[in-house]
Amino acid sequence: CLCFGPVVYSFPLDISEEYLTAIRLDQADDQAAGDYNYDQQGDDWEGLCQTGQAQSPIALNVEETEDMYVPRIRFHYYNETLQTPLVLMNNGHTANMVIPPTQLGPRAYINGALLPGNFEAQSVHFHWGSRNSSGVEHLVNYNIERAQVEMHIVHKNTRYATTSEASKHRDGLAVLGVLIRPGRRQNSRNSGLTKIFNRVPRIVQYNTNATINGRLEVAQLLGSVVTGEFFTYNGSLTTPDCAEAVTWIVFPDVLELQYRLIERLFNLRDSRSRPLINNYRDLQDTNGRPIYYRRLPDLPNLV
Ligand SMILES: *[C@@H]1O[C@H](CO)[C@@H](O)[C@H](O)[C@H]1NC(C)=O
Ligand SMILES: *[C@@H]1O[C@H](CO)[C@@H](O)[C@H](O)[C@H]1NC(C)=O
Ligand SMILES: *[C@@H]1O[C@H](CO)[C@@H](O)[C@H](O)[C@H]1NC(C)=O
Ligand SMILES: *[C@@H]1O[C@H](CO)[C@@H](O)[C@H](O)[C@H]1NC(C)=O
Ligand SMILES: [Zn+2]
Repeated sequence: CLCFGPVVYSFPLDISEEYLTAIRLDQADDQAAGDYNYDQQGDDWEGLCQTGQAQSPIALNVEETEDMYVPRIRFHYYNETLQTPLVLMNNGHTANMVIPPTQLGPRAYINGALLPGNFEAQSVHFHWGSRNSSGVEHLVNYNIERAQVEMHIVHKNTRYATTSEASKHRDGLAVLGVLIRPGRRQNSRNSGLTKIFNRVPRIVQYNTNATINGRLEVAQLLGSVVTGEFFTYNGSLTTPDCAEAVTWIVFPDVLELQYRLIERLFNLRDSRSRPLINNYRDLQDTNGRPIYYRRLPDLPNLV
């Protein structure tokens, strides 16, 4: 006989306790911020979001930066494969992935630039608009590059035990901001973004998650972005409680991702089952804060 036994699915769901704990902590941090939404692009958020003087996002223009040498960012373990599986989650505000340690053991981390310490990669999430509007948070060089999505790779100073503890200190967090626009440029080096966006249709509803298959390195999120040139300034989280704990590093170079992948974000739903679109915060006052800019070193003169 042709006997078909019960179908046995083998789930690659050996999620480590450590990773689960990190995901739960990340969820708890997000929920501690209260029931915020983007109906007024954050203008109705309270507390420090209203009263803070070093808030983010801001406009970043090369002509309005300090004339000072900024060292390059140093990336550590960025090219090491992360532990698997990875979990992408719709937390009602964004598509968020908590970043586990690398398979070697250490976490991917950065230092250099004007960073006050070593900062470990904790999570990555996105801000987007809609089919007819851009959702970038930082207005980089007047957005002549027409970026539509802003990716944030959140890092925590190793001197603090948790992200929520780090957010209480001015040197607590560092966020890499990467702009993304629709384009054709297919780049194998940002295959990490493709892997994430491939799972977005699985997390349409609030509080759903999907595992990401295959190997992923944090460097694959940055892909081909030129990391030698960037803005850096002291600012805040762009979500409540808007803690002024962030050294921002925002790249003017823009990544390209196919529109058919970007538009998947527009189908996500928030906790009210409404479309999760335009999840960006309005621009904030700079209040005279210095903004630094790292230029690529000039090429030596060829005689
Ligand atoms: C990762 O490796 C590639 C290829 O060797 C290299 O070009 C890139 O600079 C590395 N990225 C980081 C962040 O170390
Ligand atoms: C833009 O899209 C939103 C929904 O995505 C819609 O409500 C709005 O009317 C659109 N605006 C224009 C000018 O098309
Ligand atoms: C992902 O969703 C499944 C199904 O609802 C749930 O059982 C699981 O706990 C979720 N995983 C995480 C890490 O939240
Ligand atoms: C952030 O503020 C600290 C303390 O005022 C300062 O030393 C540091 O240079 C600032 N960093 C940036 C990137 O502006
Ligand atoms: Zn963000």
